[in-house]
Amino acid sequence: MADTVGVKLEARGVTVHYRRRRSEDHFLAVDRADLEVGEGEFVCIVGPSGCGKTTFLNAVDGLLPLTGGSLVLDGRAITGPGPDRALVFQQPSLLPWRTVLGNVIYGVELRGAITGAEARERAQRHIELVGLKGFEDSFPSELSGGMQQRVNLARALTTDPEVLLLDEPFGALDAQTRETMQLELLRIWNQTRKTAIFITHDIVEAVYLADRVIVFTARPGRVKMSVPIGLPRPRDLRIKREPRFLEYELKIWESIREEVMRSNDMEERVA
Ligand SMILES: Nc1ncnc2c1ncn2[C@@H]1O[C@H](COP(=O)(O)OP(=O)(O)OP(=O)(O)O)[C@@H](O)[C@H]1O
Ligand SMILES: [Mg+2]
Repeated sequence: MADTVGVKLEARGVTVHYRRRRSEDHFLAVDRADLEVGEGEFVCIVGPSGCGKTTFLNAVDGLLPLTGGSLVLDGRAITGPGPDRALVFQQPSLLPWRTVLGNVIYGVELRGAITGAEARERAQRHIELVGLKGFEDSFPSELSGGMQQRVNLARALTTDPEVLLLDEPFGALDAQTRETMQLELLRIWNQTRKTAIFITHDIVEAVYLADRVIVFTARPGRVKMSVPIGLPRPRDLRIKREPRFLEYELKIWESIREEVMRSNDMEERVA
């Protein structure tokens, strides 16, 4: 984390076990993960599949209890979900019987903080921010995958969270739409400067978006490496072809590959 910004989120020794249905033992998914995220910082988390990224993010959202360690947001311990966090999943999970506007408003309705004209106005503003002006009355089935994910993002932003938690939000999109969404997300982030934790499998996406890329170890997940991305902003998509960018990409790719090899080795030894 940069020295000049305040700490927004502090994860200390975060440990999460799952209780397995058919056995008594507890399954260790995240093991003593330490991470500090600065105010307004954009952090991407990458790591081998099944290493505990989603588990960690769900814990930050307050959906999973910790079995060890602590999570502190704005100086307060996280004990459950709250209006200061909004989670965006890979699948837009929109209500099919509601319009774009209806879906975006739904987020604030659930929170109950604002209603009526104020909620409408705020929803409208964020629909415009994600580039969906003119589609307010469309239904999800009338939108492309990319547009649906924009609605999802608008819904999260309309609740005005302190921290945006994004779990592979562009994972289901085709390559071109994905790039457009990355560009759009940076434009939106530049305007809102929300603290963001973004999980992805795509190393190029991580380097392109992030102030800092965090590499998780193979399961049980913990922070293996933190790579500050010293690329200037705003970032044009062409930056992905620059040697400096490719150096970051290679470094992170090697780190993940090492973890994949290590976990394969461990599995072979157990077998
Ligand atoms: N509800 C659950 N009950 C039991 N085990 C679970 C549960 N959810 C996840 N796990 C296990 O915890 C580990 C971490 O899962 P998690 O979904 O956090 O990984 P991930 O890093 O997000 O993976 P991916 O990159 O594939 O999305 C996995 O081994 C998974 O099988
Ligand atoms: Mg996951």
